[in-house]
Amino acid sequence: MLNRLALKIGLLFFVFIVIIESVLFLTLYVTFVNERVDEVMTNLLARGNTHSEVLEDSFEPATLNHVALMESASDFIVIITDADGNELTHSDSIEPEMREVLEHTDFSEIPQEGKIVEEQWNEKEFIATDSPITIAGEHRGHVFMFAETSHIKQMIGHLRNQFLIVCLIAVGLTVITVFLLSRLITLPLIRMKKATEQLSEGNNEVRLNIDRNDELGELANAITTLSDDLDRLKNARNEFLASISHELRTPLTYIKGYADIASRPDASEEEKREYIAIIREETAHLTELIRQLFELAQMDHNQFSIKKEKFSLDVLFQSVAALVRPAFDEKQISLSVSCEKGIVAFIDPERFQQVLLNVLDNARKHSPKGTQVILQGTQDEEMITVSISDEGDGIPEKELPFVFERLYRVDKSRSRQYGGSGLGLTIAKEIVESHGGLITIQSKYEKGTIVQIELKRGESLAKSPAG
Ligand SMILES: Nc1ncnc2c1ncn2[C@@H]1O[C@H](COP(=O)(O)OP(=O)(O)OP(=O)(O)O)[C@@H](O)[C@H]1O
Ligand SMILES: [Mg+2]
Repeated sequence: MLNRLALKIGLLFFVFIVIIESVLFLTLYVTFVNERVDEVMTNLLARGNTHSEVLEDSFEPATLNHVALMESASDFIVIITDADGNELTHSDSIEPEMREVLEHTDFSEIPQEGKIVEEQWNEKEFIATDSPITIAGEHRGHVFMFAETSHIKQMIGHLRNQFLIVCLIAVGLTVITVFLLSRLITLPLIRMKKATEQLSEGNNEVRLNIDRNDELGELANAITTLSDDLDRLKNARNEFLASISHELRTPLTYIKGYADIASRPDASEEEKREYIAIIREETAHLTELIRQLFELAQMDHNQFSIKKEKFSLDVLFQSVAALVRPAFDEKQISLSVSCEKGIVAFIDPERFQQVLLNVLDNARKHSPKGTQVILQGTQDEEMITVSISDEGDGIPEKELPFVFERLYRVDKSRSRQYGGSGLGLTIAKEIVESHGGLITIQSKYEKGTIVQIELKRGESLAKSPAG
């Protein structure tokens, strides 16, 4: 499957590498060609210079003929002129192009070391050099050497073919490398993409066996963790829904049952009143349960706003105590409230009151007559601590870790009689944590329970006036 990322990465790599390769090869090729051509030119000039040196030693017709004879057997052509450019001898037949060179030569100028007079190997059929013949300081003539450019062209054509082959091999290797490289990078990505697609289709058991230590490996691990989290969330949601439907069904069953009995023709007025009272109680319980669930749902969606203000803990304690005292008195449980002077907490007093009410309600429900419940507030440099302790039933150690979970109740059969739904502590925890605080519970079965709430004092509190 040709996927788009691999194609993009591959193409990008390919273009870059091919550009780099082209520049390198081209530079190499041009350097090579120039050097070869230079070499041929210098050789030709050196040959011409040798002839002119021989002729400087003996500028005789015999020597002239000898030089011409020598070159007629070689690949080069020699034309020897006098100082004015009149032809003295030549080795091979003179082509029009050679004549042109002679015609264009300025014979008043004497090239002392010899010079290259035609170097356009690309366009011309011959390249040419001119070496002067100087005898005893007197300029006597010129040795013109010609070489056919077809040799150079042939050699360079050969060189070009070799370069082309090497280039093709390099491009081929580049294509293979780029293909493998892009697969190496994109293959794990494709697998991860498939895994996330599976995740969104609802398959949470995604296992990515990508054994790498790089960023791709980290990404794969993150996806695996995500799938585990999703799985856990899904299970928690299912459990929660099951518990909620159970919680709702039970009171509804009661309500329906009592309504059925109350509507029987043989039910007495007194019985009817009693059943209606139970129905009302169960309805109130249901309403409360739904209210609490709604509140929790809001907290989950962060739609739950907390309006924090500086609030005296003592004042809060007094108002909470006033609210709960009648219920404590009724059960003959003593409630003692103590708060260090001048603790000012940065809290939403309404929400915090709810926390205290929930915890105190638990203490009251689970304490027998004649015991004591203590609500206490202390502070040190950094923390404000609120603790609520009772001498009641306590919670078995193995249940303790779960009491903050939604709808969790320790003694399911008895809590119905208490009217609890297992949301009080969950809500308390959510509120405390949204204040940046910590709520913990310690308990000894049949001895008592202590709930502790810790809040950071924070800068704004440290500066606040005592009150
Ligand atoms: N002070 C306590 N002493 C003994 N058991 C407690 C105490 N506080 C809580 N529990 C146990 O923890 C469970 C969870 O408490 P939580 O306040 O969340 O729910 P609830 O009191 O049953 O119902 P709700 O508060 O929603 O009316 C309770 O059912 C109870 O068994
Ligand atoms: Mg409770």
